Amino acid sequence: MKVIALVGSPRLGGNTDFLVDQALGEAAKLGAQTEKIMLSEFEVAPCLGHDDCGSFESCIQKDDTSWILEKFCEADGVILATPVYYYNVTAQMKAFMDRNYFLYMHNRKSQAKAVGIIVVAQSEGIEDTVHTLKRYINESFRVPKDRICELHGYAYELGEAKNNTELVERAQEFGKRIDESLRV
Ligand SMILES: Cc1cc2nc3c(=O)[nH]c(=O)nc-3n(C[C@H](O)[C@H](O)[C@H](O)COP(=O)(O)O)c2cc1C
Repeated sequence: MKVIALVGSPRLGGNTDFLVDQALGEAAKLGAQTEKIMLSEFEVAPCLGHDDCGSFESCIQKDDTSWILEKFCEADGVILATPVYYYNVTAQMKAFMDRNYFLYMHNRKSQAKAVGIIVVAQSEGIEDTVHTLKRYINESFRVPKDRICELHGYAYELGEAKNNTELVERAQEFGKRIDESLRV
């Protein structure tokens, strides 16, 4: 059972990154094989929007997106994690989402059986961000609604999430839920 987390925060060791580690840690304890991909550590360029995407065997942009998309398609579980930036996902996450257009144009979707959403904000914008991610999940996965797990929380400064015991516990529970929904 493989669970991959795609993290849209540019802050290594930031709140989203930390909560993802908590979730993956619990899933790993239950036997899942886990991998975290910090999108900002790789080259995931914005979609170029040319009209003939469907006619190419691979995306014409030769960056890290193609291998990330392969892992994304093959994983049993996928976690999409992002802080809120201006009431929505970060640019890193949006670029990744847009590059899924190649899959869409080739009638491919992730085979994941469960999807998790982690959203962290200082104070506002969680609802809009979750809405964006759910619309995207609807296009790129075949998971029923009851296999979409959510974790939201409030934190601002680097490391703040770490000191929020309730949020940390919820992140661990979320990791267990993802693992459990892969085993039913
Ligand atoms: C460019 C930018 C835009 C932000 N926009 C929002 C926002 O719209 N709403 C909000 O509540 N917090 C906003 N924040 C705060 C972050 O969501 C918050 O600091 C979060 O904990 C960062 O997560 P990270 O540590 O995983 O990067 C913004 C932060 C930055 C840097």
